[in-house]
Amino acid sequence: MLLRIDRRQARIGMFVDHVEGAWIDVPIWFRSHRIDDDAAVARIRDSRISAVVIDLDKGVGPTQGPVAPLAPPKVAAASKAPDPEMAKAKETLRRTHSAMRQIFAAIRDGATIDPGQARAVVDEVAVAMRHRPRALLGITRLKSKDEYSFLHSVAVCALMTHFGRFLHLDEDMVQQLGLAGLLHDIGKVTLPSEILGKPGSLSEEEIEIVRTHPVEGFRILQSQDVSDMVRDVCLHHHERIDGRGYPDGLEGDQLSQAVRISAICDVYDAVTSIRPYKEAWSAKTAYRRMWEWDGHFDRVLLGQFFVSIGVTGETSRRPDP
Ligand SMILES: [Fe+2]
Repeated sequence: MLLRIDRRQARIGMFVDHVEGAWIDVPIWFRSHRIDDDAAVARIRDSRISAVVIDLDKGVGPTQGPVAPLAPPKVAAASKAPDPEMAKAKETLRRTHSAMRQIFAAIRDGATIDPGQARAVVDEVAVAMRHRPRALLGITRLKSKDEYSFLHSVAVCALMTHFGRFLHLDEDMVQQLGLAGLLHDIGKVTLPSEILGKPGSLSEEEIEIVRTHPVEGFRILQSQDVSDMVRDVCLHHHERIDGRGYPDGLEGDQLSQAVRISAICDVYDAVTSIRPYKEAWSAKTAYRRMWEWDGHFDRVLLGQFFVSIGVTGETSRRPDP
């Protein structure tokens, strides 16, 4: 019999069938297993998973107190107004969330991503972005700690497909941009959970660890059936046009168009995200401040990006098809 318990109730002798939580929070080491020692207990208690499902036929149960039913994981919080567009966008995110969990579970297990499933996720997000961009970005903008990585990946996917279409790129390229957006931060699954979930500022040592995620992601994607463009975005989305980014310090023309697009969409979603401990910029503030970051972005693309999302900019216009 399976029983769902709080991770803090984990103890030696339990058999863990599976764990629940945001996909990015399920540790890369996780397999179904018996908890044999204190280290295994601590590993589960200190993780960011939301619940543990144990098999009572294969191991012991919890000893302390009744097991309180746990609330189901939330996909996203949003406006309470009965808005049909919001309801459709939420449904998109619910389906996408489930598929993304499977894709990332495959990656953690060293299995191959199902290209059809990945394509379906990108298509679903791209269609939602085409028909109800305000609702989709409105929901993904509000990010709880648990769902930040998932919603950030979906938002970057949505923004990259939207911007790719705006630039009149062909549909295959738009699809690849979307997949690159979904997977650009996949290397974060290798980061320690205490760093990934830490609110506020990080120490220099912690920053150095976080900065390994593009290389780690690239390493993970080398064994996956994805295009070189998706790998390129994963490895280089933190590069800057002036060569002061990482990990390779590429500059100017060394950055592909896909990488330049990803850098803009990634930062835009991060700075406009609403989170409990930091100020969220409006789209207009993001435009003004990102424009002032000299050397960070491709300025032609940056101007076009803000036109594409409806923030007026005198500096750019949509390119001719
Ligand atoms: Fe990143």
